[in-house]
Amino acid sequence: MQGDIDRILYHETTILSRLDEMAHTIAKDYEGKELTVVSILNGSFIFMADLLRRIPLPLQIDSWSVSSYHGTKSKGRIEFRQNSIADVTGRHVLILDDILDSGLTLRAIKDRLAAESGAASIRSCVLLRKKLQREAATVADYVGFEIPDEFVVGYGLDYNEQYRNLPYIGVLNEEAIRRHAR
Ligand code: XMP
Repeated sequence: MQGDIDRILYHETTILSRLDEMAHTIAKDYEGKELTVVSILNGSFIFMADLLRRIPLPLQIDSWSVSSYHGTKSKGRIEFRQNSIADVTGRHVLILDDILDSGLTLRAIKDRLAAESGAASIRSCVLLRKKLQREAATVADYVGFEIPDEFVVGYGLDYNEQYRNLPYIGVLNEEAIRRHAR
């Protein structure tokens, strides 16, 4: 598995110290507010667990299962795998996702929440944001790291459901991408 990684971008210690900073900012921003975190699975499960344990506020969690990728390319449309969403009427919603790439996934999630939820506010937090040549379809309010426009895995992120358990974030090499695609 390690041999499939071209280079490591962030080791676990670096990720966790960035999460300390993000959690501090989020806790200040939401102090005294009714907060619901909507976490986008599967990619954000480790990020969610590590970030939320650093936020010393009462909060509720809803998890959404969403699919948008096929191989290393976005399909351009997203599929929601559940029909109902938790009642967040009057609550402040923070969406957690692993990575902002084209922004189409986050855009669709925000649109659905805005249309169906009655939330008092909707913000978003991503661990990674890719630096793109073009503009992303939406922006995130909290960003962990800006990364180059390359396919990354580890710390929850997968390629064909593999590599999620790597404790770091790394760039997948071309040979591994080709091998999985066969
Ligand atoms: P969009 O393009 O809609 O993509 O912003 C967001 C979702 O696509 C997945 N994604 C990736 N997954 N390595 C991954 O493992 C990547 O480099 C990557 N880029 C996008 C991810 O599920 C994210 O929520």
